[in-house]
Order: sequence, then structure tokens, then C-alpha cells
Amino acid sequence: MSSQRCFRAALTTGGVLRNVCRPALLTASARPVNCIAQKRGVSLAAAAYQQAAARQHETPACTVASAVVRKDILTVKFGDGTEGQLPFVWLRDNCQCPQCFSVEALGRKLLMDDLDIDVHPTKVQESENGLTVEWSDGHIGEYPSQWLKDRAFTPTSRAMHKMRYAVRKEAWGAEHTMKEYDYRILMADDRELLDWLLTMERKGSAMVRNTPEKDIAGPELIEHIAYVKQSHYGPHSPVINRPNTNNVAFTNAKLGMHNDLPQYEHMPGIIFIQCVAQHPGAGGESIVTDGLFAAEELRRNHPEDFKILSSTDMYFWDKGHANYSWEMPEFYKIAKFPVIRVNGNNEVVQIAVNNAIRDSHMDLPPQEVKKYYAAYKRFHNILYANAMTFKMEQGDMMTLDNVRCLHGREGYEANSERHIESSYLDWDEARCRRRRLQEKFGC
Ligand code: OGA
Ligand code: ZN
Ligand code: ZN
Repeated sequence: MSSQRCFRAALTTGGVLRNVCRPALLTASARPVNCIAQKRGVSLAAAAYQQAAARQHETPACTVASAVVRKDILTVKFGDGTEGQLPFVWLRDNCQCPQCFSVEALGRKLLMDDLDIDVHPTKVQESENGLTVEWSDGHIGEYPSQWLKDRAFTPTSRAMHKMRYAVRKEAWGAEHTMKEYDYRILMADDRELLDWLLTMERKGSAMVRNTPEKDIAGPELIEHIAYVKQSHYGPHSPVINRPNTNNVAFTNAKLGMHNDLPQYEHMPGIIFIQCVAQHPGAGGESIVTDGLFAAEELRRNHPEDFKILSSTDMYFWDKGHANYSWEMPEFYKIAKFPVIRVNGNNEVVQIAVNNAIRDSHMDLPPQEVKKYYAAYKRFHNILYANAMTFKMEQGDMMTLDNVRCLHGREGYEANSERHIESSYLDWDEARCRRRRLQEKFGC
């Protein structure tokens, strides 16, 4: 390490760096800098993500130009002029040396038992690949520059990882038209598959045309992506007017708009609704709506109702017996969550509406029940006011984000040959494939 520059961090008598502000520890590197020019701001995240992905194949990575120790945080300036703020405890926890991190398993080996949350650096120096930090616990930590820059707590690094986690959703109303895909192209062309995966994350809906005329076409496409999410109805469900039915969907009745399987704590992520045979006359039409759009409308125009629906748990249940050999012989599911589920940032992450499956048990004081129904009905009205209707033809397969978009169907004649097949893929698997394809295509 001939070009090594180092700084010995000032040590207070207690051994902890407090409010120590130092001039630059490392002067600007003379090495060529290959970092992308970054401006701050979430709006640049998409471009930054693409550039970062492309950069993975480039060497050398960006350099660390300087580092300054302040209260609990190491401020690092990278070769391209951007700055990252690295909390000591985080940096120690995420040491990339072989003792603390397994490069084979890509997992942390350091145990929480061995992490002192008051740990602080005693020496910081530039190394061949990034930074070496000597810690107050005696450990010497190693950190590649690009690795640091990708996690440097900047708005860009945070936004990029948020997009890697999940693509931003775009809500839509009744004017929406689903983007169309061809089944055979999806099966044969990974770029097209990536496009479909991105559309599903953004819009939560797409139409696949020219599906082969077999009941397992949905599962075959799912298996091409990852694997089928099973339920007690098996790997796929023939939606026909079944005798001795075990679900109101398996009749010729009209189905109000719903998500499938809210009786599962972990509802299926994406539903594949394949039209194997359509009812020729009137009846069997589909209706689809974006629950995210409706929830945001409700939040904007009726915040009290939004609060009720997002903070009151409802039960969803399903009890019955097998109707097909691949179904579970006896089942009895109960799940519990609000109709509108929000995360810690108050973003809508799940809609659960299903009139057949919604339980008659309510975990509420009786005085609050009517108010709950009023909020629920208002949400229902918004869902329907912004729905699109159409009729699937044989070979069509509608794919929907099942924790966001709702679907329903008109009733049809009891003796109809109509045959729909439904199957499911979990979001974890869909996003997993999307990330791998983005890496493959560098986008
Ligand atoms: C279902 C369903 C749609 C249809 O089975 O859950 O929504 O068009 N079917 O029959
Ligand atoms: Zn280490
Ligand atoms: Zn359904």
C-alpha cells in the first residue's frame, strides 16, 4: 500500500470520539475516478439505478477521497465529489472482512453479541480498494469504495435500493388499458418477461394473449418465472360451475370485485386468470379496478374512513372440503388484517376485499360496527366508480397484482361451458426474477 494515506483519529480520554471535527483525513485521490456524477434527489433514482447496474462490470470502482470523523459518523468524500455519512455502529456491523462477512454466502457472520454499539474508529486509512478502519474494539475493518458508495445513506443510495426492493406503483382509474403480452414471447424472451414483471409492479395488471388451450398454461408460465403458490385449492383451480361447490367462485353467480384468498395471512401476490373457454352469450364479463387508486381517493376525500379501514382488523375465513383430488381434504383458514393495509411509511401495501370470504365475526364493540360499514361501503363505491369492464376471450389470461387490484365477473348461465383457470405466483418470487433479469440486462 505505497500510496496509503492515513489519519489517526483523535481519542478522547474515554476512548470515544465525541464532537471531534477534523479536517480532511485523506486528500483527494490522484487515481482516475469512475463514479457516475450524482446529484441529490429521489427523482434521479431511476437513472442512478441503471448507471449503477452498468457500472458493476466496470473497473476500477470509485475511490474514497477523504474521510472525516464527527460525532458517531464518518463522513466520506468519494472521488467523484459525492459525500456519504457512515454511522460508526453501522460501519462496524457491516464490516466486509472475511471474519465478519461471508463472501460465499453473502451473509453477515458478525453476531450481535459481539457488536458494541458505542464502537468508534481509532484509525481510518485509504486502502487499495477502499477504506480500512481500525476500531476501538481492536478489529480492523475493510470496506470497498463502491460498496460504501452504494450504501452511503445519501438520498440517491436510499432511493436506488428502494427501487431494487420494489418498483414504484402507478395508480390508475377507469380509463386504464392493460398492456398486452403474447404467451409464447413471454416464455421465450427474457426481455419481454422483464417488461411484464415491471408492468406488473407498476400497474398491477396486464393481459397475456394466445395462451395455450390447456388448464395448466398459467402454472407453466409461473414455473418459467419461479414456482406456483399453492393454496388448499391446489396448484390451480378450475373456475367452473361445479356441483357440490366449495367456493362461491365455483358457481355461475355474479362475483363482486375481490382479491383472491384473503383467508391467507400471506395472500397470493399475482393471480393468473386464464380463459380456457368463455360463455358465448351475455354474462361472464370481467370487471377490474385498482385498489391502490381507490384507497388514495378515500384517503384524500374521506380521511376518517381511510383511518377506520386501515386501522381496524377484519377476519377472513374459509372452511370446507376437497372438490378435486389435488385439493386439501379438509381446510379451515382464518386470517386477520385491515381491508387497507399500510406500512410504517403510511404507504398502502395491501387491499383485502372479498365479500364471500369476509367473516361474520367482527372483533369490534357493537357501537362501532355501523361506522365501519359506512367506511367500507364508501370504499366499495369508489372501487366500482373507477373500474374497467371487458370480456376475456378464449386464450386470454389476465394477470393481476392480487394484493392491490380487484377483479369480479358477471354471472352466466348455469349450463355454460365457461372455464376459467386461476393460479398464483408470490411477489417475492416475481421481484426476485425481475432483479436477476435487471442484472442480466444491466438495466
Ligand atoms: C375466482 C374469479 C373470475 C371469473 O374464481 O376467484 O374471480 O371470471 N373468477 O370467473
Ligand atoms: Zn471485519
Ligand atoms: Zn377471484
